[in-house]
Amino acid sequence: MTMSGDLQTAIEEELSGANASHLADRYQTLSRAYRNPDDRDRIPPASRDQVQAYLAARLPATYQAVEAVLAQVALRLRSDWHPRSLLDLGAGPGTVMWSLLRRFTSITEVTLLEYNPHMIGLGRRLAQHAADPRLTAAHWIQADLERSLPTLTAHDGVVVAAYAVGELTATGRRALFEWAVRIRPPLLILIEPGTPKGFATILAARQHLMAHGATILAPCPADGPCPLARTSDWCHFSVRVARSRWHRQLKAARRGYEDEKFSFVALTFPGETVAWGERSPRILRHPHIGKGYLRFTLCTENRLVTRVVTRSEPGYHRFRKLKWGDALAEAGPEPDA
Ligand SMILES: C[S@@+](CC[C@H](N)C(=O)[O-])C[C@H]1O[C@@H](n2cnc3c(N)ncnc32)[C@H](O)[C@@H]1O
Repeated sequence: MTMSGDLQTAIEEELSGANASHLADRYQTLSRAYRNPDDRDRIPPASRDQVQAYLAARLPATYQAVEAVLAQVALRLRSDWHPRSLLDLGAGPGTVMWSLLRRFTSITEVTLLEYNPHMIGLGRRLAQHAADPRLTAAHWIQADLERSLPTLTAHDGVVVAAYAVGELTATGRRALFEWAVRIRPPLLILIEPGTPKGFATILAARQHLMAHGATILAPCPADGPCPLARTSDWCHFSVRVARSRWHRQLKAARRGYEDEKFSFVALTFPGETVAWGERSPRILRHPHIGKGYLRFTLCTENRLVTRVVTRSEPGYHRFRKLKWGDALAEAGPEPDA
């Protein structure tokens, strides 16, 4: 799904009157901070201007990554599961809620936890433009995830942390994983940048949560050890993002799009009945399109497999539509190796 018209309007309104070269400068300092965290591996809270630069240059990309993840997760969710609440950790300007509420019409209670008051202010202003009253009614909590995780004993809805866990210290990350094990949300989604570091964060979460009873909904085809864990490769996916005029100006870019890379894991805890269907091998990297054949790199139950589908095989044309990140099952029955 592309960004809703009201979010686009909200962004344009927020940026109207901004000075492009000033914003580009703030974007550079923000991006430097992301590349050079401090010695505790922390990224300092963004200033008011940097938050505006985040809105112009990063929100469109993190939004599309959330959309892509939700599309994959939706394939594994029972259609009769109707969560009522969303808790977003490290919510930034509310990116996740703008995307997730479009898919989950049953959600009525939205809680956004964020420690940067500039992000909260921006998130509140953006929500004023929302056609959906659930966004304006969202409950913002200013809190530091390092010190105070929500005091819940359980959560019966969706818990998401998008591009946020990697900003915590190792101690903060571990506390967050332990907290998630205690509250056992039926759907927990963690998204990180599609870099080796982002993948390492996802892998650590995957290992901790699975060791404490969680089961993976996506992207992994099984709960066993990750076949990429001990390689120099990393599990990540890509989504194409249309660049707005602001976006191009801030990045001094000519192309009208960029490819956002992300890593993610979506988990549930046994006893909850949110999942359905079998898991399926996942396509890693762009399929190779040869003359009369397709070649896929697949993550299967516990190893990576190369699979070739020739033009003479039934289903070739359906497989032709598959792309990086799709589950093989999306093409229908698997072809023979
Ligand atoms: C890269 S932004 C992601 C924002 C949003 N989730 C998105 O996907 O666009 C990371 C957010 O996490 C917040 N954050 C980082 N450390 C935090 C902490 N210890 N407690 C609360 N929020 C934190 C930052 O202020 C920032 O808004």
